[in-house]
Amino acid sequence: MSRKIHLALHPYGVGGPGQHGLWKDPSVAKNSSTDINYYIQLAQAAEHALFDALFIVDSQFINATYPAHYLNRLEPLTLLSAVATHTRHIGLVGTASSTYNSPFNLARRFGSLDHISGGRAGWNVVTSFDTGTSRNYGLEEHLDYATRYGRALEAVQVIRGLWDSYEDDAFPADVERGVFLDPEKLHALNHTGEHFRVDGPLNLSRSPQGQPVIFQAGVSEEGRTLAAQVAEGIYAPGGSFEDAKAYYADIKQRTAAAGRNPDHIKIFIHGGPIVRGSDAEAQRRAREIFDEDSDFAASLALLGRAFGAHDFSGYDLDAPFPDVAHLAERGGRTGAARIIERARAEGLSLRQVAQTFNEFRLSPFVGAPDTVADTIERWFAAGTFDGINLAFRNTEDLERFIDGVVPLLQQRGLFRTEYEGTTLRENLGLPIPVSRYTRDRNPVGA
Ligand SMILES: Cc1cc2nc3c(=O)[nH]c(=O)nc-3n(C[C@H](O)[C@H](O)[C@H](O)COP(=O)(O)O)c2cc1C
Repeated sequence: MSRKIHLALHPYGVGGPGQHGLWKDPSVAKNSSTDINYYIQLAQAAEHALFDALFIVDSQFINATYPAHYLNRLEPLTLLSAVATHTRHIGLVGTASSTYNSPFNLARRFGSLDHISGGRAGWNVVTSFDTGTSRNYGLEEHLDYATRYGRALEAVQVIRGLWDSYEDDAFPADVERGVFLDPEKLHALNHTGEHFRVDGPLNLSRSPQGQPVIFQAGVSEEGRTLAAQVAEGIYAPGGSFEDAKAYYADIKQRTAAAGRNPDHIKIFIHGGPIVRGSDAEAQRRAREIFDEDSDFAASLALLGRAFGAHDFSGYDLDAPFPDVAHLAERGGRTGAARIIERARAEGLSLRQVAQTFNEFRLSPFVGAPDTVADTIERWFAAGTFDGINLAFRNTEDLERFIDGVVPLLQQRGLFRTEYEGTTLRENLGLPIPVSRYTRDRNPVGA
């Protein structure tokens, strides 16, 4: 098989949504989420195993009930800039909200990361899940879906325009002729759109990848449309084999319908492998982790997060699930709709709905190394993903995967045995975009 699997690493720090007990794990330092050495060491281990990228998720709203990792974590671009100077090959993908950032700022920050890392930067475009973020940015209300995703599309278009401000050879820096800049190779964008007015140019030359890689996360109709239009990578939830397969086919089809090559959008599903000496041992460990994470109050708070950080703790837990759909209209509407639908269909109380957040679901990638490699191969061959965004309970679990599963994937020709290139684009098999101005100057076939 010539298609290769891509692997990214999503660090949990002291524990994100659902990993309520992770911070108590004796092997997890209590300051992991803010310790740059934790990220550097993980990135180096992942790079040693030839992973494509380190993937940093983010949010900008909390209250005291939020997951431990969310309460106290580093800003992604700052974090990744530090990791860049301690790694050489691994891609560095950071999450940043198009809702609560200006395009000029994002273009500059991700362009800088691409320079610092020698062409390894990626931007995971999100529109922000937490409605309360608005009040950290001077807005009374979180923007609605249409506005958020409209803004996201325009932001990516503007940012790509800004990344083209300079052509590749804009700086002759010719001392003899006294020419630092060739002004013909500098272009202002002069963009006026529905959401942004940006003149440009950006004060940063084209970076090693031409443009950092655009990722996207968000599974609504609007999110899928955005992905098909502009994304080169996706952080997708995964879920069941059938869900992942349907999502994959849908995105590839939408991307082709948008006039793009469907190979140029790499779909990464979330995966949490647990690898042990035998299947039974791995399954036992999965059950143990479930027990470590079981916490009803934390599950109730997590349920509230889907409804704009709504506090459900004062409700009658045994009454039918309350009518709170309107609270999710602007935030996590897609996930909330699924919760409400299930509550209605099964006649669940609030307590039962919160418990569904805490149900034992065995990850598909649990078992002895052979079993996990077999499952990965089967899912990959069936068209459920191009890559997996891997999250591990702790560093030892990452090492078990690297030592046990990665060599099997390599033996089967499913995973690289050396990096294809020096940039994230090369490793993902994505083209380096030519500057629009250079292209216009030298049209194909001219
Ligand atoms: C796998 C996955 C990862 C996500 N990661 C983030 C994240 O790190 N930060 C964030 O603000 N939103 C994240 N999102 C949320 C989306 O940006 C989006 O705002 C939210 O899911 C609501 O939009 P949707 O209904 O289109 O999914 C993620 C979504 C998915 C599916």
